[in-house]
Amino acid sequence: MSAKLQLLVVALFLAVLIVDVSPAQHRRKSRRRTTTTEASVQDEIMNMLEADEIAEEAAAEEAEVTHENGRNEAGSKQRLLQADPCIDKHCGAGRVCQSTEEGTAECVCVEFCNQEVDPRRKVCTNYNETFGSDCEVHQARCFCDTGDARCRGPDYQHVHIVYYGECRQIPMCKEDDMADFPRRMRDWLFNIMRDLADRQELPSHYLKMQREAETNHTLRWTNAAIWKWCDLDGHPHDRAVSRHELFPIKAPLMALEHCIAPFLDSCDVNDDHKITLLEWGKCLQLDEDDIEDKCDELAEANQEQY
Ligand SMILES: *[C@@H]1O[C@H](CO)[C@@H](O)[C@H](O)[C@H]1NC(C)=O
Ligand SMILES: *[C@@H]1O[C@H](CO)[C@@H](O)[C@H](O)[C@H]1NC(C)=O
Repeated sequence: MSAKLQLLVVALFLAVLIVDVSPAQHRRKSRRRTTTTEASVQDEIMNMLEADEIAEEAAAEEAEVTHENGRNEAGSKQRLLQADPCIDKHCGAGRVCQSTEEGTAECVCVEFCNQEVDPRRKVCTNYNETFGSDCEVHQARCFCDTGDARCRGPDYQHVHIVYYGECRQIPMCKEDDMADFPRRMRDWLFNIMRDLADRQELPSHYLKMQREAETNHTLRWTNAAIWKWCDLDGHPHDRAVSRHELFPIKAPLMALEHCIAPFLDSCDVNDDHKITLLEWGKCLQLDEDDIEDKCDELAEANQEQY
């Protein structure tokens, strides 16, 4: 083979090579070529093309990465929601939040209540039946509310806690005890208010009243009485303490203080199932003139503070 022919074949080969290279082969081939010392116009072109191609691919990859990241972010957010749609869901007593297959939150009856060992955790219901815990009472009620087969009967739709502790025969409140009860109740309220203040658990708008009660003997009991009355009158806030609103003082004391129930009944002089502040004051044997409905004033002061 002549040198001329040889050159022609090589030239042809190169020409075919340049024309024939598919984009995919481009880089590999030109890269391989850059490892050779042979520099040619074609090599320069190839290198430029390669560089542009790499840049293009890098840009595309970057776009894809951000795109994928975006997808991942959306995906993980969705997964998070799927994992716990219950985060913001509040369920009532005896109910817990459960996520549905659709990823939404719903409240269902508690399946298992913690087994309480402390007998003080037991509760006595309006059917004079001891339940292991308040959870069990709310659960029983929930079963009836939701048409669950575990509902123990139509009555249980209205089951509620009357007092803490096992059901017992509550001894009669003796006349002497009853006579002494308003004084004990006043003291008790004053002491609770003081304890809360000491523990910094008394809402700030009541602190002034508490300090007044400490320093001014006239206000010692009235302020405590007003505080408690305002505190109880919250569901609804209607300037009267209804029976259910008495729960926070009645339920914990019933098993210990035989006179609390008859005493609270006696406060409702006109028997309309509501205790007004005036009735409350009278019942605690406080001077009517010292009793002042400060609840709204106090609540407003509280709002201004925040
Ligand atoms: C309630 O149950 C307790 C304990 O079983 C019992 O001693 C008491 O007499 C009952 N009270 C009423 C009002 O039935
Ligand atoms: C105690 O409070 C009463 C009622 O607000 C008030 O009339 C009296 O001046 C106060 N006494 C003292 C010593 O601050």
